[in-house]
Amino acid sequence: MLTAIKKEHGQLSGRLTLLKSEAYAWSHNQEPDYDLLHLLIQYFAKFPDEIHHKKEDLIYNALIGGGVLESEYLKRLKSEHEQMNALTQQFSANLENLAAHHVSPKWSLISDINNYIDVLELHMADEESQFLPLAEIELSNKDLLGVHEIIQTELITDAAKQAFEDLSRLDSDIDQLVRKKK
Ligand SMILES: [Fe+2]
Ligand SMILES: [Fe+2]
Repeated sequence: MLTAIKKEHGQLSGRLTLLKSEAYAWSHNQEPDYDLLHLLIQYFAKFPDEIHHKKEDLIYNALIGGGVLESEYLKRLKSEHEQMNALTQQFSANLENLAAHHVSPKWSLISDINNYIDVLELHMADEESQFLPLAEIELSNKDLLGVHEIIQTELITDAAKQAFEDLSRLDSDIDQLVRKKK
């Protein structure tokens, strides 16, 4: 489970690199690839918000439930998930607005995207250096199995299955666009 979380961070970092380069081009007065930007924003609204962070919240809960002292730290990580969720909602709504009404909130959109990139990068680095090692020490195999069971029963719902399908479609669309650009 903890290895899977690390692997998901690797996938997120790869997508962040693409998002960064689109935001960089846009802020340097080059046209971003709107199709790619649109897909990336959908990806970030889907994968971290609906899947990755929800799994981690369950691990945080298991740690807090186990009386781990660093619960203030864990609460902060949890609140960063909410903060990132709000940011993805905000910039996906702004991008929709841009596409529908051609009103360009360009700088606020770029600033939201850059803010999101910074928060997610720091958050993942923090998790890699503190949260995952903490979980590894504090949680027994039985605890992790318990989390795994909750994921299977409460997280892999029909709605979540749809999210997984959407995600794999988004992933292949992103890869296809990136291949075309090369
Ligand atoms: Fe997290
Ligand atoms: Fe994470």
